[in-house]
Amino acid sequence: MPRYEIYHLQANVMFDAPLYTPEKLLLMPARRLVTADDLAALKKWQVDYVETSGRKLTDQEVERILQTMMAKKASTRALYGKVKDYEKKRAFEFYVDAEGLVRTMSEALCSGMRVDPEKPRGLVRRLVEEIRRSRDIYLNIIHNDYGKEEHLVFHMLNNMVLCLTIGVSSNMREEDLLTLGLGAFFADIGMLKVPKHVRDKTRELTESDLSMIRKHPLESEKILNRWIEDYDDAVIRMAVEHHENVDGSGYPYGKKSHEIHSHAKILALADVYNAMTKKRTYREGKAAVSAMKELLLMKDKKFDAAILKTFLGVMSVFPVGTIIKLSDGTFALVVRPNVGMPLQPIVKVLFDAEGKRLEQPVLVDLRSESPQDGVKIVGPVDPASLPRIDIVDEL
Ligand SMILES: [Fe+2]
Repeated sequence: MPRYEIYHLQANVMFDAPLYTPEKLLLMPARRLVTADDLAALKKWQVDYVETSGRKLTDQEVERILQTMMAKKASTRALYGKVKDYEKKRAFEFYVDAEGLVRTMSEALCSGMRVDPEKPRGLVRRLVEEIRRSRDIYLNIIHNDYGKEEHLVFHMLNNMVLCLTIGVSSNMREEDLLTLGLGAFFADIGMLKVPKHVRDKTRELTESDLSMIRKHPLESEKILNRWIEDYDDAVIRMAVEHHENVDGSGYPYGKKSHEIHSHAKILALADVYNAMTKKRTYREGKAAVSAMKELLLMKDKKFDAAILKTFLGVMSVFPVGTIIKLSDGTFALVVRPNVGMPLQPIVKVLFDAEGKRLEQPVLVDLRSESPQDGVKIVGPVDPASLPRIDIVDEL
């Protein structure tokens, strides 16, 4: 790998691949400006050179990248600006940071570099704390469409959030949560080996595209076996088995229910749900409630019935952020699931029966409504049929 002597590097250079220390530790992700302060710190730490498989970018390329980064920061700030509540802002900032960590660590592992195993563990532990503190905010965040262009990294992070939400809500032990989060993180890392034009293809996939994609669980296994030595076996099994179906129709091995690790079954469900509800260049994302219905149809075929039941209990049939019609004609937003009561979440009534915005929204816990004559959910409605609301602000 080409080396660059620190003493010959000028400040404000940028490379199109990550930079590594002579010990092969990740120093800086790709397309990050090496500042005068960075160079001074490297000299102070007596690092003589850095290595990278990439090339030094031209001044014009650096300028273009910096402008794009500024625009991205401005749009993230605009999004924060809309979020008034401190807790939501804090959770959103953590989510954006976590995305950066997932991206940097996966790129490093894929380009054959070592990552300190404590770093992914630290990220999972923080995420567990975050979900314990603000579960519903994170469920809302993963239902939004951030990072459309780089959906693989967001998908990995959203899988972690959803798996850990299921784990936390079913009172899993700390060490199981750690394994579950790590497995959700790394299972799709092999997808980074599939060329981007195949991953993002808008037309039907060819046989050769499919065979490439179907290899990704084993690619993930290879990367994990090579670079991460001291993780629990379940992490590797989640990578290998997350596309296996309980009826044996999945890949790569066609394993049946009793042969699939329970963590891999949780990830299989989270993975499909996350993929279904997100917008892609070639299709709209499904409403959470339709995705949930489709998952239910795959009970005992693709998914384990007990895990599907837990998932349903955690998410409710009408997940957070869904707009629903109530039996008294009013319209409400689902703001919180009631664990174990998938049809009776907590909702915020926002519109009267004519679809007019209420001046004072009313919070209703459908669990405490009388089964005979209390208010019930009639069904989901298309948000476009009502005056526009900002769901992030309402939750
Ligand atoms: Fe996958």
